[in-house]
Amino acid sequence: MKEDSNWDIRDEASFREALEAAQEARKRVEDHDPQTHQHGVRVSQWALLMAGRLPSFTLRRRRRLEISALLHDYGKLMIPSSILNKPGPLEEHEWALVRHHPQVGALSAPVNPEFVEKGAILWHHKAWDGGGYPAGGPSGQGIPIEARITAVADVFDAITSKRSYHPEGQGVAPSQAVGVLRELAGSVLDPTLVALFESICVETAGEIGGKAAGIPTLSIQWVIAGEVARARKYLERELGPFDTDDPLVGEPPPPWLVDRIVGKMVRANLDADSARNVVLYVLRQPLEETFRQEDLAMDDSDVSEAVRRAGNHDEAMIHVRSDHPRLPYMSVVVFSGRLWLCVGEKSGDRTAVSLIR
Ligand SMILES: [Fe+2]
Repeated sequence: MKEDSNWDIRDEASFREALEAAQEARKRVEDHDPQTHQHGVRVSQWALLMAGRLPSFTLRRRRRLEISALLHDYGKLMIPSSILNKPGPLEEHEWALVRHHPQVGALSAPVNPEFVEKGAILWHHKAWDGGGYPAGGPSGQGIPIEARITAVADVFDAITSKRSYHPEGQGVAPSQAVGVLRELAGSVLDPTLVALFESICVETAGEIGGKAAGIPTLSIQWVIAGEVARARKYLERELGPFDTDDPLVGEPPPPWLVDRIVGKMVRANLDADSARNVVLYVLRQPLEETFRQEDLAMDDSDVSEAVRRAGNHDEAMIHVRSDHPRLPYMSVVVFSGRLWLCVGEKSGDRTAVSLIR
């Protein structure tokens, strides 16, 4: 994980001050809407666990994310608590007020602006497919990644907590909530971040908000290995028992076989191209690189550095031209001959791609 060399003791002291102000502001929001007690803390803890696996998150960025996630609902202070706690459906004019809270929060978060990522607050209800609110604005990888991370954590915590709009007022179990996230992956939520969250959540769901929050996370390989196991299971059904070292005895797989297994594997958070990468890996076929040298928007020394890191580490960072045709939809990519989860962030004509294993 990359650390900021320019983060010093004064930065840490200012951050501590900002963190204290953010915690006070968060408490005010949660006192205003008591059913969200500690919601901001849990969202912030989940967000940090996700960011901890992304090589683009330096220490400074993680600090900013922590504070922004604590304050993501700050704008709710302007919504009357009678609306926030209304048990039935909201009237249109009440919804209009609710939909306004991200803008209000982004404009008025009462913390040193150096430590707030306003985009995380402004776009935390923006959907991956461009829906959600505020209306208009970015979609997909154009949504600030801090907002996409906050959205996954926010939805998970909202459905696992006690809220007035849940039947019986109770939240659902974490395992069920992960199922809900999968259903939202690709439409409301960033599908790769859902996969990343899933790998993190399995061990920590019972702990977040408690004493052991932040315990070590599962390897992302768990997600990819799960997909590989699924592909093997389908292959066995198609072929009967097979030699895992040589499933098709040197024959190239017939296209119908690849298509059939890919078709079975595709679900909300694994698109067809990603499933194809996994299936070809299981079939021991040569993997086609998702990002070739000519796709990389960087100079030669950076390229060799990225490849070197990819060869030796479980995290790598590359920059790809933003018009790369497959990038916006792929979760499992091939880079340097290996399978990786891929999270992108658009920035001008480039996309910064975090690769994680
Ligand atoms: Fe919100």
